[in-house]
Order: sequence, then C-alpha cells, then structure tokens
Amino acid sequence: MKIHEYQGKEILRQYGVPTPRGVACFSSDEAVAAARSLGGTAWVVKAQIHAGGRGKGGGVKVARSLDEVRRFADQMLGMHLVTHQTSRDGQVVRRLLIEEGVAIKREFYLGMVVDRESQRVALLASSEGGMEIEEVAKESPDRIHTLRIDPVTGLAEEDAAEVARRIGIPDANGAASLFQNLYKTFVEKDAMLAEINPLVLTEKGSLIALDAKFNFDSNALYRHPEITALRDLDEEDPAEIEASKFDLSYISLDGDIACLVNGAGLAMATMDIIKLYGGNPANFLDVGGGASREKVTEAFKLMLKNPRLKAILVNIFGGIMKCDVIAEGIVAAVREVHLSVPLVVRLEGTNVELGKRILEESGLPIISGADMADAAQKAVAAARGN
Ligand SMILES: Nc1ncnc2c1ncn2[C@@H]1O[C@H](COP(=O)(O)OP(=O)(O)OP(=O)(O)O)[C@@H](O)[C@H]1O
Ligand SMILES: [Mg+2]
Repeated sequence: MKIHEYQGKEILRQYGVPTPRGVACFSSDEAVAAARSLGGTAWVVKAQIHAGGRGKGGGVKVARSLDEVRRFADQMLGMHLVTHQTSRDGQVVRRLLIEEGVAIKREFYLGMVVDRESQRVALLASSEGGMEIEEVAKESPDRIHTLRIDPVTGLAEEDAAEVARRIGIPDANGAASLFQNLYKTFVEKDAMLAEINPLVLTEKGSLIALDAKFNFDSNALYRHPEITALRDLDEEDPAEIEASKFDLSYISLDGDIACLVNGAGLAMATMDIIKLYGGNPANFLDVGGGASREKVTEAFKLMLKNPRLKAILVNIFGGIMKCDVIAEGIVAAVREVHLSVPLVVRLEGTNVELGKRILEESGLPIISGADMADAAQKAVAAARGN
C-alpha cells in the first residue's frame, strides 16, 4: 500500500529523520495560509499523487511570493498530472504539500527495498540523487551502491558510514544515524520500499529528506492500523477496489484481452501464453478455488467495464471446483451482463465433459478452446477481429 509524500515525511519525522517543515492542503486558500504560517521567502508547491516523476511533469514548483503560491496551487489542483509512473491519462491532483524552500547544495539518493534474492533489506545509495535516478540506474549502475543488511545484526553504524563516505556525504557519521533511522522505520512499519530522493545536503550543512516514498506490505497491514488509516482510495484503481469487495484478486493491465482464471499460478501462465501468441492481457484475475456463480458474474462485470476490452479468455482447471459448476456460472453471468466482445472458454479437469455440454447447450456465442494454446490463439485472433 502506497501513501503520499507528506504522510511519509510525517513517519520519517517520528523516527528522527529530518524533513522540511510543510503542511498538506486541499485548496489554494489553504495553500496560501500554509505558506504564510511557514514564513520565509520561498515555498515549494508539491502535487501529492502516488507516483514519482512529479517534478518533470510540472507537479513540483518553487514559489517566491504568496501570489505565486496561489497561482501554482490553482494550476495544480485538479490537473491530470502525467508522469512516467502514471497511466497515459495521468492522475488527478487533489492534495498539495506546501513546504519551506530548502537551499540545496547537493542531492543524494537513498532507498531501501526488500531484496527477494538475498532475502534481506537492500540499502541503495547514490551520489547522483534527484530527478534523473532512473537514468543513472540504466546508464551507470556502478554509481549506485548496494548494501544487503543482515536481519540479525541490523544496519551497523560503520557499514552505514562506509556507504555514506562512498557516495560523498561529508558528515558520514551523521548520515549513518539517518540511514539507521530509515532502516528502523522500514522494519518496524513493514515497508517493502522506502525512498528518499533526494536526500539533500543543505547550504547550511545539514542532511534532510526532501522527498519521501513508501510502499507497505499489504499482508502486514493488520498490525498497522495507523498505516491503513493513511490509505487514499482516490489513488487506487477503481476496478481493483471493486474487486477487493468481492474477494477477487484483480490487477488492471494495459492490454485488451481480459482473463478470468482460477488459481494465481494458472492466471500468470495464462497471461504468459497470451503474450506468447502476440496478444496483450487486460488484467490479472484469480477468482480463487471456490468461486461461486455470484463471484463469476461480478468478475465478468469488472472485465466488461474496461473500455479497451476486445476479447475475454476464461481458463479454468476444475479440481475441487468442478467444471460444470463453473460452466453454469459462466452461462448465468453472460445472460446477466451484456457481452460486447468474443468470449473464449477453456475448461479442463473434473466434470469437463458435463461443463462443455452446458456451454454448448446454452446457445450462447461461446468459442471453445481445446487446450490452453488453442484457447489463447483463439482469444488473440478474436481480439484482432478475426
Ligand atoms: N522543499 C524543497 N525545497 C527546495 N527544493 C525542493 C524541495 N522539494 C523538492 N525540491 C526539488 O524538486 C525536485 C523534485 O522534487 P521531488 O523529488 O519531491 O519530486 P519527484 O519529481 O516526484 O521525485 P521522484 O521522481 O523521485 O518521485 C527535487 O529533486 C528538488 O530538487
Ligand atoms: Mg523525488
């Protein structure tokens, strides 16, 4: 689960990581009042969306007067901010962070992620912080230092200081305690990703987190009601929110062939095989082992809401779930919703013959797939209008 920058900075402050002073705002009046209360002569108006790259997309602006604060706030609130991490349509800006302007001397990059390969938290640090870190990672990966932290000993001060020295932070010991505080935050809050980009050295010589990005492990949210409370549904995909109400595992993708599958592994394999035959999956959807007729109907409604949809591929392996039950579910669902695209169904497993008969006798225009390859090829052809 992601949170906004201003929320992330609040958490960092609780753990002793310094950040600029700032106030979250929902209107330009609030923005001007916030700037006035912060004082000073320069403020940064920052669009709060759950995506990076805001600066390049016009979502981070330095204001030199209260009039400018108002003007930037007016421009940003309600805009569709498009960045390399949003969809093509961008993300609507509903919240702003008004922050004191910081005189920057140097920008560094500091991040932590769960590294599945080493089963450790990896600390990533670079002297090339700021808005070009993606390019640095691509063009000169040697500029990024990685330290895999032993979960038993934690982040040792000397190891942290060594990383800080390598990326050229003058006060390596001061930086080390900041790194340790970030690690403590990461572990105690069950984060999957924490990123401070940029971590800056100010003209006055202090280290301060100018940006904050967190992603928390959803499976651990039950023990963090304080994190769950920060959830912003406006930032999440409406289809995914809808799916979670019916206990369907659904992830929107940008292709045009929707898939309805039982089991996460089979769902992954189904997306792979669609790709193999030159198509693009519109979603990941696992209806689970015990999908009821209602669940299948809701799944169809979800898939059909996608404006890009060209075809649907249902791929079911009947184990505990019998093929005839699924077939009845599909028939009922298709009768209830208006099916506007071709539907390909592949059934295998328990009661498969009965299931196929139910589909055939329904009289519905369902294309039957003999096996996974056949079904995927038919779905790709149908999506192309063949
Ligand atoms: N309070 C501040 N004072 C001065 N400059 C700032 C401040 N906040 C941000 N900046 C400048 O704006 C740049 C972009 O801001 P920030 O990193 O918060 O947004 P971003 O572009 O979304 O970042 P990312 O792509 O890492 O998500 C920073 O690299 C920094 O140079
Ligand atoms: Mg940033």
